[in-house]
Amino acid sequence: MNMDEQKASDPLSEEGAGSGPAAGDSNTSAAGVNTADAAAEVAGVDTANADGEPTRLYSGIQPTGDIHIGNYLGAVANWAKLIPRYDCIYCVVDYHAITIEYDPDTMRDAILDTATMGMACGLDPDHCTFFVQSHVSETMELAWIFSTCTAIGALERMTQFKDKAAQHKQNINAGLFTYPVLQAADILGVKADGVPVGDDQSQHLELTREIARRFNHLYGPVFPDAKTLYSPAPRIMGLDGQGKMSKSQGNYIAMKDRSDTVRKKLSTAYTDPNRLRRSDPGNPDICNIFTLHKSFSSPDEVATIDAECRSAGIGCVDCKKKLGASMETAMTPIQDKYEDLTRRPDDVRDALAAGADRVRTLTSETMTEVRQSLGLR
Ligand code: TYM
Repeated sequence: MNMDEQKASDPLSEEGAGSGPAAGDSNTSAAGVNTADAAAEVAGVDTANADGEPTRLYSGIQPTGDIHIGNYLGAVANWAKLIPRYDCIYCVVDYHAITIEYDPDTMRDAILDTATMGMACGLDPDHCTFFVQSHVSETMELAWIFSTCTAIGALERMTQFKDKAAQHKQNINAGLFTYPVLQAADILGVKADGVPVGDDQSQHLELTREIARRFNHLYGPVFPDAKTLYSPAPRIMGLDGQGKMSKSQGNYIAMKDRSDTVRKKLSTAYTDPNRLRRSDPGNPDICNIFTLHKSFSSPDEVATIDAECRSAGIGCVDCKKKLGASMETAMTPIQDKYEDLTRRPDDVRDALAAGADRVRTLTSETMTEVRQSLGLR
């Protein structure tokens, strides 16, 4: 292979780099997942990469605060639905969480709390593998190796890095910069070929595929092409209408929030900005409250609200009250399960330990292959 041929087939050459979608780009529209319907369709496959059915899925969530309804609808509810169909591996990614300032005194509890809420949301450790990232050190070894297959220019293009660097000006550390390399190691260490996420992860997953192609190109075919699987609600907007719902923006409803808190938060939530008076007809297509109805209310109620909003038959206050009731119905059983699990923390810890044992075995097997391919052992 001459240099030009090598460059053209090298995914990290300038020709290969930067071809992925910008963060937040999505080929999937932000339709809701109806959590009330147990038989609802599972994930939509990224249309950019839709050939072949994945077999093993991996995804992760940071223990940086309460799991909110954006995490739930964009990721965790979908993860739960995917469990009967795939070998699912889900993770509380604590090593990712230390890339921003945090309190070591509360981190242990935060990790357990995220795992507990994850289980309450349906990540049943009897039917999927659920573990904590820092319990499997082999992944960190793979992250180092992957850092040698990752172009600095590609990391500099990551919009999440740029956003977080702007938010945490006092602490722009190297880990924040190489965060997507560790994410690639998480996924590829277990050779997952599907990654269910919200659409804010699309750029990181495009880089994961670039790293796998680069490694395979240099050292031999070890890693699969991991497809992005979007949930039917890949981007839930914040209650302030300013951007996506996010722990760091405080514009969220937590899965823990009981109905009185939910109703209070909804009462000031942003709606269709053109609907200034009760008598103005609304446009549900641009209203975040309607998006949430599509996720939490029954199809009949969604159809009624759609029609009544457009005809000004219902006002935003009533529409929010109905949403509050639907959310209470969907969230109360999860909250009850969460409270039950908080009384049995050792059961949660034992399940996480069993999950880590399985992932350690899988990642160790990968690492044996990786070290051989690299010519190290
Ligand atoms: P994190 O902890 O920010 O979010 C966890 C999951 O929730 C989704 N999500 C949303 N979906 C829809 N609307 C929203 N407003 C919303 N906010 C969050 C995210 O897309 C994500 O799927 N980098 C990852 C964690 C990670 C990971 C991985 C994911 C580490 N390693 C390997 C997949 C595979 C993150 O920060 O997620």
